[in-house]
Amino acid sequence: MENNKQLSYRNKIILAPMVKINTLPMRLLALDYGADIVYTEELIDYKLLNCHRKVNDTLNSVDFIDKSDGTVVFRTCPREKPFVVLQIGTNDPSRAAMVAKLVYVEYDLTGVRLEYDVAGIDINMGCPKGFSLKGGMGAALLNQSDKACAILSAVISTVSIPVTCKIRILRDINETVSLCKKLAATGIAAIGIHGRRIHERPIHENRNNVIKAVSEALEIPVIANGGSKDIKVYEDIEKFKIVTGCSSVMIARSAEKNCSIFKRDGKLEVPAVIRDYLHHAINYDSVAANTKYCVQNMMGNVHETELGRTFLETSTLQEICDLWQLGDYCREKQKKMNMLRFEERDLACNDQKRIKPNPVDETQDDINSLKCMYIRSLYPMPEDLPKTKLLNWAKTHRKPLPKYHTEQFEKLFKSIVTFDNKKYSSLFWEKNKRCAEQGSAIVCLYFLNVYDMEYLKINGILG
Ligand SMILES: Cc1cc2nc3c(=O)[nH]c(=O)nc-3n(C[C@H](O)[C@H](O)[C@H](O)COP(=O)(O)O)c2cc1C
Ligand SMILES: *[C@@H]1O[C@H](CO)[C@@H](O)[C@H](O)[C@H]1NC(C)=O
Ligand SMILES: *[C@@H]1O[C@H](CO)[C@@H](O)[C@H](O)[C@H]1NC(C)=O
Ligand SMILES: *[C@@H]1O[C@H](CO)[C@@H](O)[C@H](O)[C@H]1NC(C)=O
Ligand SMILES: *[C@@H]1O[C@H](CO)[C@@H](O)[C@H](O)[C@H]1NC(C)=O
Repeated sequence: MENNKQLSYRNKIILAPMVKINTLPMRLLALDYGADIVYTEELIDYKLLNCHRKVNDTLNSVDFIDKSDGTVVFRTCPREKPFVVLQIGTNDPSRAAMVAKLVYVEYDLTGVRLEYDVAGIDINMGCPKGFSLKGGMGAALLNQSDKACAILSAVISTVSIPVTCKIRILRDINETVSLCKKLAATGIAAIGIHGRRIHERPIHENRNNVIKAVSEALEIPVIANGGSKDIKVYEDIEKFKIVTGCSSVMIARSAEKNCSIFKRDGKLEVPAVIRDYLHHAINYDSVAANTKYCVQNMMGNVHETELGRTFLETSTLQEICDLWQLGDYCREKQKKMNMLRFEERDLACNDQKRIKPNPVDETQDDINSLKCMYIRSLYPMPEDLPKTKLLNWAKTHRKPLPKYHTEQFEKLFKSIVTFDNKKYSSLFWEKNKRCAEQGSAIVCLYFLNVYDMEYLKINGILG
């Protein structure tokens, strides 16, 4: 199935895969600055296979959501679709092929047109971490070339987008070259080579000559990797490409620290890069912990500066954004997103009520109610969670502990908390029991004057 819009790996500058770093904001940032292709972080096959694919109309994204805990495992968007490569960690051909099917959607009614959520798929054959090796993934595949080839062949025969792999070099040049030839014979579109052996660390020299030997021996594009120590400015990328004789270059650590390395017209100062990064994090509602981790890597030694020490204290996206004068933008965006969620849920509720009217009487007058939404990201600390707060309030005031009763209607939940002989409930139907209980606790805390109306409004909790 030849497709003329297929991603080409020739003459490209690429953001290399990095666990926890290469979530959507970093990939978009790299594209903004001029990267031609962006890899995701390595995602383990099991993890992806436990996800369901969901189109998110609020964010205009496609989300792969963990069925067990509801977390977003992989979020992607139209802007990156022609350039994003999904990297998989796997040790099994059929599981790898199943993951490939997950990001492949056949949506044309005639069944002719094939669509993918990503532009390419890469198999990680270079990760030297214990968990990968023990699991037979990553670099463990380098000495099991039959299995490595079987994985590539299985994915290639499942999809019509390009498939690649990323390896480390072996002890011997010739051995490395023959491994690469064998892998190339499966029909992969390109191969990424990190010029270090499995047990070598970043302090060891990158063996550019080995990459060069492979590049000369193969017909498919070879992507050189491992040069970050010598890549300080844009021109160094070209130098690395020349010494390795490669078609393309893939950069990890230099981009992690200062993503503007991809800018042809020179790097930006780190604070500017952080601001650009945070814009994407806000727009795609990134998890605060992940945002903090990535920003911290850009800041370097956080313990040495006043800003750094303040930064370490932050726990919400808003708090992080405040430090780069983006707090208001963040609050505004989050509020808008919450409003859309209220609307989405109202529509879902109405749909369900049409099927089966009046599930529960929402206007029972012995219930103190308010329309409040439980927004997980507002409570980073366990003690801040509404239920915990209410429990602690009860203990301090020597009251009997709150009791929750949850009702389910179709796929929506609503909880009533009984506390001190009164009943409280949120008029907002939640997606699960846990959230519904938190919602009723919020309403109860409001009537106990722990939360005031202003707080509920500012944070977009009130519908
Ligand atoms: C924080 C971090 C995470 C990484 N995660 C991955 C990964 O998920 N998959 C992978 O193939 N390599 C991973 N790597 C390795 C890089 O992709 C790259 O091969 C290595 O850092 C050498 O390139 P560099 O000199 O440009 O940094 C990671 C490296 C770093 C620093
Ligand atoms: C889309 O993502 C936002 C932010 O994470 C979330 O609040 C919203 O519920 C999601 N919408 C859908 C339809 O999944
Ligand atoms: C591959 O290497 C691992 C350790 O690095 C070793 O345990 C395993 O036996 C090797 N497999 C083959 C087929 O050589
Ligand atoms: C590697 O291959 C080259 C060319 O095929 C050959 O001349 C050389 O002797 C080989 N080296 C080793 C160490 O096997
Ligand atoms: C990022 O680039 C800027 C501008 O050249 C420089 O001041 C800063 O030190 C760089 N940071 C890192 C970590 O490379």
